[in-house]
Formats: sequence, C-alpha cells, structure tokens
Amino acid sequence: MRQLGGRYAAAGLWATLLLGFATAGRPAATATTATAGAAPFYANRFTKLPTARALTSLGRKLFFDPGLSASGVLSCASCHDPASHFGPPNGRSVQRGGVQGASEGLRAVPSLMYSQNIPVFSEHYSDDEGDDSVDQGPAGGRTWDGRAESAHDQAREPLLSALEMANPNEHAIAVKLRHAPYAAEFETVFGEGVLPDDAQLLRAALLSLETFQQDPALFYPYTSKYDGWLRRQVALTPQELRGLAVFNDPAKGNCAQCHPSAIKEGAFPQFTDYGYVALGVPRNRALAANADPQYFDLGLCGPLRTDLADRKQYCGMFRTPSLRNVATRRVFFHNGAVHRLVDVLRFYAERDLRPERWYPRGPDGRVWIFDDLPAAYRANIDHEPPLDRRPGEAPALDAADIADLLAFLGTLTDGYGAASAGLSPVN
Ligand code: HEC
Ligand code: HEC
Repeated sequence: MRQLGGRYAAAGLWATLLLGFATAGRPAATATTATAGAAPFYANRFTKLPTARALTSLGRKLFFDPGLSASGVLSCASCHDPASHFGPPNGRSVQRGGVQGASEGLRAVPSLMYSQNIPVFSEHYSDDEGDDSVDQGPAGGRTWDGRAESAHDQAREPLLSALEMANPNEHAIAVKLRHAPYAAEFETVFGEGVLPDDAQLLRAALLSLETFQQDPALFYPYTSKYDGWLRRQVALTPQELRGLAVFNDPAKGNCAQCHPSAIKEGAFPQFTDYGYVALGVPRNRALAANADPQYFDLGLCGPLRTDLADRKQYCGMFRTPSLRNVATRRVFFHNGAVHRLVDVLRFYAERDLRPERWYPRGPDGRVWIFDDLPAAYRANIDHEPPLDRRPGEAPALDAADIADLLAFLGTLTDGYGAASAGLSPVN
C-alpha cells in the first residue's frame, strides 16, 4: 500500500526556503545540495541579497529567452508552453531541440504546474503520518525519473542537453547571459561582481528560474472547478460526482491511491503522491530513440538516470504525474505513447484484459505484452486495482465509468470562473 504525499503537502517547500532566504537573509541549507564540503546552493554568495520579487521578474525573462539556446530559437517556454499549462505546445510525443533544432527528445514534456511541493528524491520514502519504519519505496525528485534534485538543479539540464538547448558548457551559457538584453538586471538584483564570474552568473540564473517557477499565480493558482467545489463555492454535476466516486473507489478506479484527490492537513490535493510505479505503458515506436530495438527507457534504473542502475527492482518505474490540467494535454505517459485522455482511461481498464489493443504481436503471432520492458523486469509491473484483472474477469471500469471519469478530470482545469476568488482552503 502506497499513500504518500503528506509531509510536503502543507506548504510550498521551496517558496518557504526562498522567502526565508530573500527576506531574513539566513542561508537556507538544504539536503538538496548535499555535495560533500560544498556550500549550500541557497547560501548567499552575492554582494546583494536578492528579493523574491526581483528573482521572479528576472526568472521570467530567462524562461522566455530563446537566446539562451544554441539554435537561438528554443526557450524553456517553447517546450513548457504557458498557454498549455506549461506543458507541451503541440501533440508531439516528444519535442525537438539541439543545435539545429532537429533532434528529438526522449520523453514527453511534463507540465511544470503544481510541482512546488515535489519532495527531494528518496529511495525509501515513508509518510510521517504512518509508521516511519514502513518503507514506501522511491518517491520525489524532478523529471520522470527523479534524477534532478531541485528545480535549479533541473534547469541546468535543458540548458546543457544536446537534445534541448544544446549549450556545449557552462561558460557558453554565461556568455549568452552577459550579452542578453537584460544582462544589467543581474547586477541590479545580485549586486556587483555577478556578471564577470561564470559560476556566480549561472547560479544567479538558476536561482531566478527556480523562483519564477514558484510564482503561485502562474504555477499553482488552484482555480479549477474542483478547487471551487473543495471550497464549497461551486457544485459539481451528478456526472462529475460519479466520476469522482469512481476515481476514489479502491475497488474501481483506485486512482486516488496514486493521484490523491482529497484535502490533507489543510493542503489542497496535488493529484500525485510523487511515487514511482511501472504501469507497463506500450512502447512508442514513433520515437527516434526507439528505432534501436536494444534501447529501453527504464526510468529509475536508467539509462538517463545512472545512480540506481543496479536496482533492477526499479526498472520500468516512472514518477506519478499530477492530473491537474490533464484534460488539456495532448500527450500522455513518459514516452508520449498515448494522445487522448480517454485512451489513457481505456488503458487502465484494458491492459490485462484486451492486451491486443495495446501491444503489437511478436513473430510467433502472440501478443507482445509489456513490449517496452525487457522480460527480466516483468515482476516490477504494477498489479493493483484497476490493473488487477485477469482474462475473463469484468474490467474495473466500464464505458459509463470512463465517461464519468472524463467528466471529473475535466474539473481539474485551472481558470474556472467563480473558483478563482481565493487561494485558501476551506476548513
Ligand atoms: C526541448 C524541450 C525542452 C526545453 C527547451 C526545456 N525543457 Fe524542461 N523538460 C523537458 C522534458 C522532455 C522533461 C522531462 C525530462 C525527463 O524526464 O528526463 C522536462 C522536465 C523539466 C522539469 C521537471 C518537471 C518535473 O515534473 O519533474 C523542469 C522543472 C523543467 N523541465 C524546467 C525547464 C526549464 C527551466 C527550462 C529552460 C531552462 C526547460 N525546462 C527547457 C523538455 C524541455
Ligand atoms: C498504482 C499507481 C497508479 C494508479 C492506481 C493510477 N495511476 Fe495514473 N499514473 C501513474 C503513473 C506512475 C503514471 C505515469 C506512468 C508512465 O508514464 O510510465 C500515471 C499516469 C497517468 C496519466 C497520464 C498523465 C500524463 O501527464 O501523462 C493519467 C491521465 C492518469 N495516470 C490517470 C489515472 C486515473 C484516471 C487512474 C484511475 C483509473 C489512475 N491514473 C490510476 C500511477 C497510477
């Protein structure tokens, strides 16, 4: 039984650290910068103490600046489109980047919304509400495999990835920052000495990007119809309520086990427990990387993540995504193998009952179930409801349940009129 997400749900962890850092001037040491002997990332080494507001404003400019990429056309916002809830701007399974802008990425672009509470990666997570000796398995961290410890750590990756913004090294990024139209703002915000120093300049940029991604109005506004319902300001329709019941029912959708839907300790739900599960999503044969039949994206155990390569029990596991704003996405699962929300729901209902609808046939004519995971790792596949059915049994979800679930998931889209009134939970 995994039910995670309590410990970090109550407050924006990073926002708290940053505000503490920016207003009180106390360096906020954190476990995320645990390189032995190194000063914590948040220790202020600038000549001026930046304010959260100034960091957000500079971070916004960085986020939208295509000048930071080798191709000159790709910004963070190109892949994390604000008009698409900071997720992919189109229906492509993966986005293109690189020096020429022609290299295909390896994974679907996640939304950056509601990631303010993602805990640091832990291989042995335990929820502080329960018995701490109960190991609930790996949870937290940034990206689909949790290999980035924080948003600032994460931002370094796309800037340097050959498939994304494709800077050859940190110096190349620093040169671009020095020549950016907003370069002078670095000195206004961080004080003198920041511009000529590559390491300081990059740290300043990453801190700004991270702080921008903490902007509540943009990244966690809680303005969906469902939030309005939680605040008792809005009524859900009978169909939406039926969908919520299916979502929560452990014998039906059981969705809330991994995508929690209830207010907990006063905090609104994020619709993810940050845990890792192998759902056995079909191989996306349209991906360039998958042209090589030997290539497998195994999530936690590699190849993008390298430190858990020997933990074979984790192969095939990816971090549970938030379902907020999911109805507006056109790309689903870590490999973008599915393009319609209704098909995600059908996958949950049919994976084990009608595998021929989801997986190809092998040379012997038999259905090649779990074709994106080498046979040695089959034991890692999740078989909790709704993925617990055996051939011949009734599916956990019928057509009416799926229609109801779709209606409910539609209530998780931000920007629902009346709900935008306040940010505080009811209780
Ligand atoms: C070419 C497309 C592309 C660009 C450009 C890009 N990203 Fe991403 N981003 C991705 C993909 C794909 C992932 C998932 C990576 C993975 O799981 O390995 C991701 C993951 C992330 C995550 C982790 C989200 C989570 O839920 O864990 C953050 C944060 C992020 N990106 C921020 C940024 C920032 C900041 C920039 C600009 C400096 C940026 N990205 C530029 C494609 C892109
Ligand atoms: C045992 C945990 C678990 C349960 C139960 C579960 N999910 Fe998921 N869900 C995941 C994980 C993990 C992923 C990502 C898998 C991947 O990409 O390989 C995911 C992905 C998704 C996605 C794709 C989101 C995106 O951004 O790509 C949707 C939609 C979704 N789940 C909805 C549901 C619904 C609806 C239910 C109930 C019928 C449900 N899930 C039950 C763990 C779970």
